[in-house]
Amino acid sequence: MSRAVIDRVCADEILDSRGNPTVEVSVSLSNGVTASASVPSGASTGEFEAVELRDKNPERYGGKGVLTAVQHVNEEIARALVGMRADEQRAIDATLIEADGSESKKVLGANAILGASLACAKAGAMESGLPLFRYLGGANSHVLPVPMFNVLNGGKHAHQGPDIQEFKLVPFGAPTFREALRYGAETYHALGAVLADAGLSTNVGDEGGYVPQLPSNVAALELILRAIERAGYRPGEDIAIGIDPAASSFYVDGRYRLTRDQRILTSSEMIDFWADWVTRFPLVSLEDPLADNDWAGFSALTRELGERVQVVGDDLFVTNSKFLQRGIDEHCCNSILIKLNQIGTVTETLDTAQLAFSAGYTCLVSHRSGETGDTSIADLAVALGCGQIKAGAPARGERVAKYNRLLAIERMLGDDARFAGRGAFRQLDRR
Ligand code: PGA
Ligand code: ZN
Repeated sequence: MSRAVIDRVCADEILDSRGNPTVEVSVSLSNGVTASASVPSGASTGEFEAVELRDKNPERYGGKGVLTAVQHVNEEIARALVGMRADEQRAIDATLIEADGSESKKVLGANAILGASLACAKAGAMESGLPLFRYLGGANSHVLPVPMFNVLNGGKHAHQGPDIQEFKLVPFGAPTFREALRYGAETYHALGAVLADAGLSTNVGDEGGYVPQLPSNVAALELILRAIERAGYRPGEDIAIGIDPAASSFYVDGRYRLTRDQRILTSSEMIDFWADWVTRFPLVSLEDPLADNDWAGFSALTRELGERVQVVGDDLFVTNSKFLQRGIDEHCCNSILIKLNQIGTVTETLDTAQLAFSAGYTCLVSHRSGETGDTSIADLAVALGCGQIKAGAPARGERVAKYNRLLAIERMLGDDARFAGRGAFRQLDRR
């Protein structure tokens, strides 16, 4: 039987969850199969992320329009892909990379390229009659990730909030994904009640977490611990905590400036600060605890804490195998955040995750602070079998869409489904 080929590739400018434009790409095959994908967008972006092409026309969306990227899909990308088979993901992505020709994907735009790459993956899956996780991950994809719920927002996602960007519930003690979702949602609501009782705001930030105005960063952890208990769970047993300080966002002139704590710290003082938290609180995952150019600091921190806590590189690695290889060589982090749009194609994302696994690093699949209804990252997490995903609070449509997709995958897998649980955090074995 001859396989269908790509017939049509077209894009549109749609809105993301922050009301900013983003790219949606549709791919149609010669047999009538059509699939579409939309691209997320970050706020606390790493310096070396693939380039998100924006029009910079001040008369539209404050310069954030993506009509140029849309045009690149409709013209150059469509020309390059039409006639190719949709199930040749590596060849498709290699073609996209070549058509762009730049290291950073600045010519066609990583938003244009990823939209096309992901839409082709979805079309390939549909044509093969497989759900996306099975198509990308193969016959043995059956591990549901531990969801990390960002329930308290700060940094660039909530200007009134703490300096630390994300405080996450990690319900790794749940027996199934479905139960983990319940643990998370119940604790999210308990946190709302704890905040209301304390007379604090229950307004939410970009990822659906609350944004109370607190006297210190540590106050956020104390409130979360209270919420876990109030919801009837055991901190550190049923639900642990993960944080993403996104430290580049408060690193100025070589110093870490914690405004809420009125402290200015050197790199080694910042490491001591985290070591103290790891000792005092049930922290299992520490993402971007230092700035993305503080490689020496990352290496020192990993030496000191890497046996006790997952140290995740996000802005440091930007899902790029070159940066990850440097991290492996210099012993920086023991885990990598996986964001499709940081690198710009499905193939490069899978290759980076593969490199991480081969070096004994864990992978945490991630959404962006600007999201759409696209749920591909849920499938990606199951395809990789990495056992971890973060997609924001268990609230707001664009966040719960990913968690609801994982519920559907769990249902589809039936008795074959396995929840990653505590085992996803292999660093904790040595605790
Ligand atoms: P971003 O934040 O999507 O705004 O970059 C997410 C993160 O830092 O993990
Ligand atoms: Zn991050």
